Amino acid sequence: MEIIADPLKMQAQALRWRARGVKVVLVPTMGFFHQGHLSLMEYGRTLGDKLVVSLFVNPTQFGPTEDYQQYPRGFDRDADMAAKVGVEVLYTPGVEAMYPSGYQTYVEVEHLSKGLCGAFRPGHFKGVATVVLKLFNQVQPQAAVFGEKDYQQLAIIRQMAADLNVPVDIVGRPIVREPDGLAMSSRNTYLNPEERGAALCLYRAILAARELVATGENSRTKILKAVKQMITQTPHTAIDYLALVDPKTLQEVEAVQGEARLALAVRVGKTRLIDNTLLTESRLCCV
Ligand code: PAF
Repeated sequence: MEIIADPLKMQAQALRWRARGVKVVLVPTMGFFHQGHLSLMEYGRTLGDKLVVSLFVNPTQFGPTEDYQQYPRGFDRDADMAAKVGVEVLYTPGVEAMYPSGYQTYVEVEHLSKGLCGAFRPGHFKGVATVVLKLFNQVQPQAAVFGEKDYQQLAIIRQMAADLNVPVDIVGRPIVREPDGLAMSSRNTYLNPEERGAALCLYRAILAARELVATGENSRTKILKAVKQMITQTPHTAIDYLALVDPKTLQEVEAVQGEARLALAVRVGKTRLIDNTLLTESRLCCV
């Protein structure tokens, strides 16, 4: 596995591959890999000829009071794990190379960035859309793979690619969970044992919502009430939002008609966790 840190070197390599008709797949990450990342890499490997994984903790997507400094980092461990999955290039640009002094260009996906996490993390998605477009330009992939845990991020990147005519196939992959149901996240490492137990309430709330919908309940009010109850009865938790939204527009819906996404953001201790699930109207899923 080659490690490339210089954006110009990465782009030169990508352009050489492109000239030879080599199909490049990118998995953008912020590192500290877990099974969720590895599943994106394994899937990415099946989509093309060369798999590039970018590892960059992107400062522009963290707010001033957020966890940019503490975000878990472990380069040697990450490099070993990526090599084992068959990654061809681990692309690790530095902050100075990505945002040299005088940097001033940003991408904003206006409407999709407003609600859900966007309402609690101002500027976050502007940072995400910007860095992802930069990575696309540097790596020139034909396809890029993202996890569905960051569901709003995935929707925003799809919209950005469509709006700006970016010729990259955006591929979303299912959430990978711990055996007890907690969605895998690099931020789970922040949880102490008590909080790790409390964090399970997100998955329990998802199961409760799925159960309600499976038994024919479609009302947003009733589903969110059950979800809220699951969270509020768990110590160490504070809700940022619980939302039932249209899977494409991310606008709130009043009922599960066809399909809807349940999205949750809950702080457990000081750690902000997100999770989501697809809910399918029972009359559609059981015929
Ligand atoms: O999902 C992430 O890890 C990041 O938001 C991404 C897409 C790598 C951009 O920094």
